[in-house]
Amino acid sequence: QPDGIITVIVLGASGDLAKKKTYPALFGLYRMGFLPERTHIIGYARSKLELEDFRERISAYIKAPIDAQKLAEFKRLCTYVSGPYDKVEGYQRLETAIAEVERDAKGSKNRVFYMALPPSVFVPVARGVKLTAYSRSGFNRLIVEKPFGHDLESSRELHRALAPLWKEEEVYRIDHYLGKEMVKNLLTIRFANVFFGAVWNRQCISNVQITFKEKIGTEGRGGYFDEFGIIRDVMQNHILQILSIVAMQRPVSLDAEDVRDEKVRVLRAIPPVKIEETLLGQYTRSEDNTKPGYLEDSTVPPGSNCPTYAAAVLWINNERWEGVPFILKCGKALSEQKTEIRIQFQDVPGNVFRGAPRNELVIRVQPNEAMYMKFVNKQPGLSMDTVISELDLTYKRRFSDLKIPDAYEALILDVLKGDHSNFVRNDELDAAWKIFTPLLHTIEKKKVAPIPYPYGSRGPDGVHEFVAKYGYKRTEEYVWSEGKE
Ligand code: BG6
Repeated sequence: QPDGIITVIVLGASGDLAKKKTYPALFGLYRMGFLPERTHIIGYARSKLELEDFRERISAYIKAPIDAQKLAEFKRLCTYVSGPYDKVEGYQRLETAIAEVERDAKGSKNRVFYMALPPSVFVPVARGVKLTAYSRSGFNRLIVEKPFGHDLESSRELHRALAPLWKEEEVYRIDHYLGKEMVKNLLTIRFANVFFGAVWNRQCISNVQITFKEKIGTEGRGGYFDEFGIIRDVMQNHILQILSIVAMQRPVSLDAEDVRDEKVRVLRAIPPVKIEETLLGQYTRSEDNTKPGYLEDSTVPPGSNCPTYAAAVLWINNERWEGVPFILKCGKALSEQKTEIRIQFQDVPGNVFRGAPRNELVIRVQPNEAMYMKFVNKQPGLSMDTVISELDLTYKRRFSDLKIPDAYEALILDVLKGDHSNFVRNDELDAAWKIFTPLLHTIEKKKVAPIPYPYGSRGPDGVHEFVAKYGYKRTEEYVWSEGKE
């Protein structure tokens, strides 16, 4: 419980992100008893809405299991102010509303500004709230969401505009993958287990794949997506964040700055991705004709070469990883939804069990959190043949009573606690853009053509060959028991 009162101001409160993520997460925290007692939530947006209508909109997005009583209580904590993003009157109204909430409160008056906004208004809003609605007697925290620019230069420009207004320690850049349970677990499994520590290097690991697959295409947001593409939308942030935790050195402590120092250090050891080491795809109409192709979306410019699928290889020039390819793959409109990390170990040197496949550690981020290690076992019984099996930690079975928190619940709680560990620091963002900017510019300037793949398929032709080229050896006959679901 912080000293004093906290007001969370959701800027862009009637937008998609606020409705789908921010408010449900705030409610989730309230329901579980994690919202500090004296918290108030003020929504701010341009739409003129009556308070009751606004509250109705919020609850429409809060999904089961709903405790009606709790929801009613939560809605009472929420109020709404409408106003423009580019005029001081709006922020004055907001300041008056916050001051009203804080009027009789004892102790410090803390404010969290959650920017659930399109990038075009980031800077004016950050300026508006800083100049007019900044607390003079408590902490101020600013939560921002991607896109943080669209390349290195524009990201630096955004930083140059925000830095004079907001100190780095006040800013919380969200990458919601950092709030996912299995991503948070990476530090623990790597640094609290002696056996992982011993094999986590180029001597034992042959290649690492980090895969993100989604079933849905870009329906309804083609216009937005076309300006970004899958590399900016998912790979340069979510997947690269996972990579940095998989590959970083052990931090000096679990302090946010120690953790982030190590993430930056490993990112800085990665040279820019080469176009020759990528494979790009774009989805077309599904084979059964039920789903439209990417270019059929009326908001997508005709003939766009925007990739909806990308595979790319990153190399880390340091003592631990030199020569180990990190293969990042992500795509939309694929046959399944899955995010996983697949660490394939080297062949056993001088193996007396000829032809035995490699060990693989698979960390399933979603859906159904799990971790399993593929290993070679004796075929039970009289035979001395080998059989591939797994050491399997499936969360649903092992931690069956646990509700895994939503990423946004975990991250908003971190902001309330002032913990920066799971947020992106500015130099980390800079290092991430350096890795991808030359590639993105080449794709755009040279109009590199993506390989078409049907909606609902496994991706463009050539992906298997691509990963094989970088050393991944597939074990054809093996299917993880849980994978059969
Ligand atoms: C967002 C991307 O950041 O992450 C979306 O903009 C993507 O395109 C989403 O669908 C995936 O998040 P999650 O949590 O559903 O895996």
